[in-house]
Amino acid sequence: GQKGESATFDSLQRQVTALEKNIQTLQADISRHQKFFSFRWVKSVGKKTFMSTGTKDSFENGKSLCTKAGGGLACPHNHAENTALREILKDSEQAYLGMSDVQTEGKFLYLNGRPVTYTNWETGEPNNDENEDCVAMYDNEKWNDIDCSNSEMLIICEF
Ligand code: IPD
Ligand code: CA
Repeated sequence: GQKGESATFDSLQRQVTALEKNIQTLQADISRHQKFFSFRWVKSVGKKTFMSTGTKDSFENGKSLCTKAGGGLACPHNHAENTALREILKDSEQAYLGMSDVQTEGKFLYLNGRPVTYTNWETGEPNNDENEDCVAMYDNEKWNDIDCSNSEMLIICEF
């Protein structure tokens, strides 16, 4: 009868209100967590997001870590991306960039094989010191060519 229907309606309305409150709480939680992670490990610039797990490894291992996660090794294509990437580095940390000149010495290519269009070399770099085919960013935002087997480089991925 009508009484039963109205009781059901009241009950549903209470449930919806309770769910709305839960969603609000979850949204506030997510927002707090997003702020925390972007403060330390996640930097978004344009459509790109740089992220690190804090792992230090060689170029090949870094590349595979990022690829397996569905992204690629971090590779800044302009000044804004370069700065965002640097913000993940702690003092005196260095990070591999997604490029190399392993194919032709002195010709740096992105990992998709296209020639590098934006660079931010440190003065005197790249110097191919004892055959350096990979590139790392210093904590001053500048780049240095470096040995690809160096496993002290922070691995930062882009998504
Ligand atoms: C080297 C220097 C050099 C740079 C090389 C590094 P190391 O470090 O910083 O300026 O061009 O890539 O390997 O071997 O003197 O500790
Ligand atoms: Ca060098």
